[in-house]
Amino acid sequence: MQPTKVSAATRDRLLRDARKAMKNAYAPFSKFKVGAAILTSKGRVFVGCNVENSSYGLTNCAERTAIFSAVAEAGPELEIKAVAVANGDGTACSPCGACRQVIYEFGPHAVIFHQGEEGLKQSLITDLLPEGFRLK
Ligand code: THU
Repeated sequence: MQPTKVSAATRDRLLRDARKAMKNAYAPFSKFKVGAAILTSKGRVFVGCNVENSSYGLTNCAERTAIFSAVAEAGPELEIKAVAVANGDGTACSPCGACRQVIYEFGPHAVIFHQGEEGLKQSLITDLLPEGFRLK
């Protein structure tokens, strides 16, 4: 399997879309707004933001919001090629463990663009989540 390649223009578009989605975040508790954009194998882009809750553990991260929106709108045949994650202040922010597993479900070869300690980072989901779980 060839590693997924994403052009600089596509990466920049995904990051722009993630930043735009971030503005819709509902983050009154952490005040940490996050946006995500996913690129599908059909070339479509879906976005999401974090949605927090008074019962903190019910919070949905931006990445999962984007993925669940994509399934809701385009159906379960989703194949994720790339994910971009943005936050308001450029803080290092890679997808959390739960989101890594959800990305892996639909994109075992996905490329992830996210802020690292020293600027933008590009990683494969398999680097972030070695031995992700699959039932099939
Ligand atoms: N968060 C995301 O939406 N995505 C990430 O990659 C990391 C964390 C959210 C969850 C919560 O609303 C806030 O950031 C602080 O943890």
